[in-house]
Amino acid sequence: MTDASNGRVVGETLRAWIRGRTGISITEQNQAPVELAVRLEAERHGLDPVIYLDRLQGGVLPPQAFIDAITTNESYFFRAQDQMRVTITRLIPELMRCRPGQPARILSLPCARGEEPYSLAILCEEHRIPPRAVELVAGDISATCLADARRGDYGPLALRRTDPTTAQRWFTPWGPRTYRLEPALLGRVSFHQVNLLEDAATVLARRFDVIFCENLLIYFDPETTSRALAVLGRLLEPDGWLFVDHAEWNIPREQFRMQELDGCVGFRPLGPAHPAPAGHSRRDPAPGAAVPLPGPRWTADGDRPPPPVTPTPTAPARAAQRPAAPAAARPAPPSPPPAGQPRLAHAQAHYQAKRFAEALLAFNAILAGHPADARARLGKALVLADCGEDFEALEVTETLLHAVDEGELDLSPPDYVEALALIALLLHKKGLKDLAQGYLREIARRAPGHPSLGLLRPGSDHA
Ligand SMILES: C[S@@+](CC[C@H](N)C(=O)[O-])C[C@H]1O[C@@H](n2cnc3c(N)ncnc32)[C@H](O)[C@@H]1O
Repeated sequence: MTDASNGRVVGETLRAWIRGRTGISITEQNQAPVELAVRLEAERHGLDPVIYLDRLQGGVLPPQAFIDAITTNESYFFRAQDQMRVTITRLIPELMRCRPGQPARILSLPCARGEEPYSLAILCEEHRIPPRAVELVAGDISATCLADARRGDYGPLALRRTDPTTAQRWFTPWGPRTYRLEPALLGRVSFHQVNLLEDAATVLARRFDVIFCENLLIYFDPETTSRALAVLGRLLEPDGWLFVDHAEWNIPREQFRMQELDGCVGFRPLGPAHPAPAGHSRRDPAPGAAVPLPGPRWTADGDRPPPPVTPTPTAPARAAQRPAAPAAARPAPPSPPPAGQPRLAHAQAHYQAKRFAEALLAFNAILAGHPADARARLGKALVLADCGEDFEALEVTETLLHAVDEGELDLSPPDYVEALALIALLLHKKGLKDLAQGYLREIARRAPGHPSLGLLRPGSDHA
């Protein structure tokens, strides 16, 4: 179970256990957040990590807290904006017209902390779609997320794509840097704890007209994706629509077929061709044919400063609360972009001015159009780390370094060292000093004298 040679506790047995429980595929390249979760959960139980894992996998300890700790719950309001627009302006009105008296049933699974289904609830309100016309159902495997969703409190990062007018209308500032969702909206969504691969059909017990399954399949391997799609097929009405993130469009054609509606791509169960909603000229692609894609979502505003995106744009709460590492130990910002890369310079300027929500938005904007931009990935990781999103920061940085090591992405030697330093700092901050050592040794080899090497000094405690 453990790999004593490198001090890590995550091995093949745990990876298989996680895959069996959640479907999530952990590899050696992206396992640092899991390593962290094991250590933290073990500490919480006052156990040695190896004993903790034995008890967890042996069924002596309940698995929920660990599952909550290893899932990536990153989300924000109005994330799947094209799919939401089409649902609100085309699909729901069409269902109301064809099936008067019967609500349109919309499922958000996974829903993380409720950002996605509540965005739909807000849009329903703003388009005057009455509650009786739409049933909004949401599910996630994470109990912690669902508890947060039912409470309806959000930090500024969750509102980074919400325009200020909408934010002011539907959220109330609530304590330092917390925004509380309008209580009337809480009742518009029903939340359920659901494992898509195990009990979704029995827990939800009905079919849906539209399913948002955004940013989940990306964590699954092909075999698990196929199982998940089979479940989604059973949950979807024969003429329903399934929406997934554009990074997940490689859905096998034997299970669903792509269809475009108003510049938005969705998936429909196979079977007799479905008529498109009234007024829409069908443009189904032939099987295997390329679908005309909507343009990159962010291109339009990517080259000019983004507007403020939160009611009061401020650094996220956790960044303000956590003890900062001494400046000398902190990774440096990525090296300045060469002339001709104004968008990267713009994103980095936000980061350096500690406008983290804006910086994240700007880095995401670059990555939406250029996923291989290694420096935008590093910039995003630094922002996430500064916001206290340690798991996500580790995941982004480890994936980046792996891609660079594999020759898939390019990163300059100084930026490579900064990425190593970020991982070392995050691990060190979490008390995983033994794991941080390996990264620090690599930094010492590549850049003797790098400030992060201060973490190696005996008695150093920057966490
Ligand atoms: C990155 S979030 C996506 C949230 C939202 N759909 C979005 O696109 O912003 C992924 C979510 O999937 C959930 N999840 C992971 N495995 C799951 C499973 N087997 N069944 C249901 N939810 C799962 C996690 O708890 C996490 O909240």
